[in-house]
Amino acid sequence: MGGTSLQFLLTLVLLFLCMKPTTANYLGLADTHLGCKEHERQALLKIKQDLIDDDRHLSSWSSDQDCCTWSRVTCSNQTGHVIMLNLQGVGSGKLNPSLIELKYLTDLDVSYNDFHQSQIPEFIASFSNVTSLDLSGANFGRNIPFQLGNLSNLQYLNLGGNNFNKPENIEWLSLLSSLEILYMDDINLSKVNNWLHVVNKLPYLTYVHLDSCNLPNIFSVPLVNSSTSLDVLDLSSNNLTSSSSVLEWLFNSNTSVVELYLFENQFQGLIPIAFSKINTLAELGLDSNEFEGEIPKAFGGMCNLKTLSLPLNHLSGQLGFIHNSTHCANHSLEFLDLGQNQIMGSLPDLTTFPSLTFLDLSQNRLNGTIPESLGKLSNLESLYLQGNSLEGVISDAHFSKLTKLKHLYLSNNLLNFNFSSDWVPPFQLNEINLRFCQLGPRFPKWLQTQKNYYWLDISNSAISDSLSNFNLVFPPQLGYMNLSYNQISGQIPNLSLEFTFPPIVDLSSNKLEGRIPQFLFESGYLDLSKNLLSGPISSLCEVQNGKLNILDLSNNQLSRPIPDSCLMHFEGLLILNLANNHFHGKIPSSVGFLHEIVTLDLGNNNFSGKLPSSLKNCTKLVFFNLKQNDLSGQIPMWLGISHPNLVVLILRSNHFYGAIPTHICHLAHLQILDLALNQISGSMPKCLNNLTALTQKVSPNATISHSHETQVSDNTLFDMSYDDRMFFMWKGKEHEYKNILGLLKSIDLSSNNLTGRIPREIVELVGLVSLNLSRNRLTGQITSEIDMLQSLDALDLSQNQLSGGIPSSLSHIDRLSVLDLSNNNFSGKIPTSPHLDTFKATSYEGNPNLCGVPLPKKCSGEEIAQNPAMNRSREHAGRQDEKEGLISIGFYVSVALGFIAGFWGVVGTLVLNMSLRVAFFRFLNNFKDRLYVAISVNLARVQRQLQN
Ligand SMILES: *[C@@H]1O[C@H](CO)[C@@H](O)[C@H](O)[C@H]1NC(C)=O
Ligand SMILES: *[C@@H]1O[C@H](CO)[C@@H](O)[C@H](O)[C@H]1NC(C)=O
Ligand SMILES: *[C@@H]1O[C@H](CO)[C@@H](O)[C@H](O)[C@H]1NC(C)=O
Ligand SMILES: *[C@@H]1O[C@H](CO)[C@@H](O)[C@H](O)[C@H]1NC(C)=O
Ligand SMILES: *[C@@H]1O[C@H](CO)[C@@H](O)[C@H](O)[C@H]1NC(C)=O
Repeated sequence: MGGTSLQFLLTLVLLFLCMKPTTANYLGLADTHLGCKEHERQALLKIKQDLIDDDRHLSSWSSDQDCCTWSRVTCSNQTGHVIMLNLQGVGSGKLNPSLIELKYLTDLDVSYNDFHQSQIPEFIASFSNVTSLDLSGANFGRNIPFQLGNLSNLQYLNLGGNNFNKPENIEWLSLLSSLEILYMDDINLSKVNNWLHVVNKLPYLTYVHLDSCNLPNIFSVPLVNSSTSLDVLDLSSNNLTSSSSVLEWLFNSNTSVVELYLFENQFQGLIPIAFSKINTLAELGLDSNEFEGEIPKAFGGMCNLKTLSLPLNHLSGQLGFIHNSTHCANHSLEFLDLGQNQIMGSLPDLTTFPSLTFLDLSQNRLNGTIPESLGKLSNLESLYLQGNSLEGVISDAHFSKLTKLKHLYLSNNLLNFNFSSDWVPPFQLNEINLRFCQLGPRFPKWLQTQKNYYWLDISNSAISDSLSNFNLVFPPQLGYMNLSYNQISGQIPNLSLEFTFPPIVDLSSNKLEGRIPQFLFESGYLDLSKNLLSGPISSLCEVQNGKLNILDLSNNQLSRPIPDSCLMHFEGLLILNLANNHFHGKIPSSVGFLHEIVTLDLGNNNFSGKLPSSLKNCTKLVFFNLKQNDLSGQIPMWLGISHPNLVVLILRSNHFYGAIPTHICHLAHLQILDLALNQISGSMPKCLNNLTALTQKVSPNATISHSHETQVSDNTLFDMSYDDRMFFMWKGKEHEYKNILGLLKSIDLSSNNLTGRIPREIVELVGLVSLNLSRNRLTGQITSEIDMLQSLDALDLSQNQLSGGIPSSLSHIDRLSVLDLSNNNFSGKIPTSPHLDTFKATSYEGNPNLCGVPLPKKCSGEEIAQNPAMNRSREHAGRQDEKEGLISIGFYVSVALGFIAGFWGVVGTLVLNMSLRVAFFRFLNNFKDRLYVAISVNLARVQRQLQN
């Protein structure tokens, strides 16, 4: 019994000893003047009332408790007054004036709220004892009250990221004689021409952040205040130039700065050697300026430097400063970023920097080999050398001690990997980028040891091996895998795994075979095009909750019908490309679940039956290709109504019949309309001039591109983009048309049963590059207004029943390089002009009543007179047809989109010499990748030109 009570007593004593004053107060045992002051408690409650605190950050602030126990409130343990108040990120509203009751505040933080661009209340200036004031990111507006200058005890002031009016001056700042840390980032100080003088007056300032302030350049150096003691100076993202005096001031006054950030300015010329004289400097950030020339050799003597960051300048020369770094007994450099400059020469021995963790020399002009000594940098975590001209063999030695390496980027060099076959790397990489490195021909076995990567790019790496010899690792955290453009064969293993985030997987352009395993369909972006994959895609249909945005299975040997409900779990799909496979059966009606789809390419398969009416739901379609299938039925009316964004519509080579619905004219963005090789009858709709995109000469974009952001890891968003593409025949070979698909504007209605006249409205489609109406039963004449089609490159009206004369205005279409009027009933004399004379007899033959060059038949006098001179009302003023005696009323151009028929193609450099087409090529040459693409050139013509 005695034992127990002793224990109890001890506990009680301990309790007293440990009790905090506030708790003691609550128990009524402690000093009565400690604890919350009533008027301060009331003030705090009023402050709470004026704040919208949706996330209940202030829930502990209730009327029946000691306010010193509330969260975000700190009282003095000597006086019981509130001395610290932290309202960071509570919400929005306003600052209640009763804040002024908290007279003893030393520390006030109201950052990251939304005060609706109200002014900072002037009463804040009455907190004469406040030492720390954080007003950042709080959407304060109007003018900064100059009364803040009264806060003579202030040591920390943060005003950054608000929406103040441009201050005219900041003189008040110089009164803050105790100030040590100043943040004014994102405040527009463009009118404050003496900002540096003001800053210079503050004797205790150690941290200054004036980034993104539109600081004006300063052209007079303030008197150097001998007591300036800056540790950190951040003047990034201003427009400071070398002609300003900022650097001069810096070099004269601040010989002890430790961190210096001058990112994103316009400093030009050589990097001043004076930086190297600042012995204390540990971090120097000069990214995104216009510095040029070599990095001063004297930088090698900066023995305390930990970070040197100079990417995105115009630096050239060699890395001599590294050679000159041997003076330091122990060089401390940890972070070296010189990426995206024009640095030349070879990569020096970096072992003078044993602490190096981050090395970025990417996108420079380094050549020569990578020294094996690199493998000794045992602290290295990130190695970025991509985009240089480094060459030679990479072996085990290059990585021997790199146990901490996580990020390896050697892409786009001339490197040849040659590891011993049983090499086990000392590292586990997160990112592997070896694109365009020579890794093959066998699969690099060491890759099998890497099990944690989320980024793997070994595309174009000359691997010619079978997956059966290699255990390809798909880590669950995979974000990006690109093995494209190799010769990888064999089957993709059927793994059962779940990805953390749906990854981007590109295995295209290989020789993969067999079925597609289901787990791959759990990706966000899957490109398996240009392989030898076969069988049904039933595993696709088994995916629940599909995350796919982009699925490209084109150019394989996939077959069988696609189950009708297969696509119902892929509502996020944007791109579905199944072209060039052997699918058959109906188009699955679940395609109607694809509400977001923009590209649907089912071309070159054996799909049959009618178009499912559920396609109506795919209202965002831009690119729709069904060419070369066995589809039938009428062209549905809804095609023109439900898909207002269509740019490409291709139904070529199917069994569609009936008339062209006039609803098709609603497609204001349509640039490519191809209905060729069907059984379409009736007349051409007159409303084709409503196809607005075709009535304009300019094209919005060279590519038809779709981009989409996807999250591939906790902290990485990747912007994927997909360019629509199509295949065309040229010289018996198929070429892919991608980079300029968006420039094509064409109509092809050839090889149908169209009758009647070519509607005159067609000449309003002045953007048309190709018009093919051949192989129909069209009648009537060619309008002399045909020359309104100034963009026209190819015109094929052959094998119809067109009659009348050939209008001489045709010769005004300078770009025309393909003309076929053969096998009609044209009559009269073929007009002559230097341009038209370049066409051969084949353009005109099969018209028994035509005469003149280039046909062998000579014209007699009567034949010239026979030319019809009828309705001239629609002729444009200024045309010369009459003079030439060749009048035609409605030369009704039929619209022919010739390019798929073989007018169009991708040809070699050869064709570029053709003088006729130079202008157009110059236009194409503007594109970065300078694809040598020639549009609508037929082989006969090329040969003729070359002979000339
Ligand atoms: C009182 O507060 C100061 C800081 O405000 C602290 O250093 C000190 O330890 C506190 N004293 C007690 C007894 O809690
Ligand atoms: C300011 O602090 C001093 C002591 O540091 C104190 O005597 C004075 O009362 C305080 N004034 C206010 C208004 O808090
Ligand atoms: C920097 O200057 C350029 C013109 O020299 C101007 O276009 C740009 O807006 C300026 N940027 C800032 C942040 O002042
Ligand atoms: C190399 O560094 C040393 C030590 O810092 C320095 O004195 C010398 O001037 C530098 N050499 C050159 C060529 O700049
Ligand atoms: C590297 O390039 C320079 C010129 O840029 C050249 O003089 C030198 O020979 C090249 N070195 C190697 C190893 O190719």
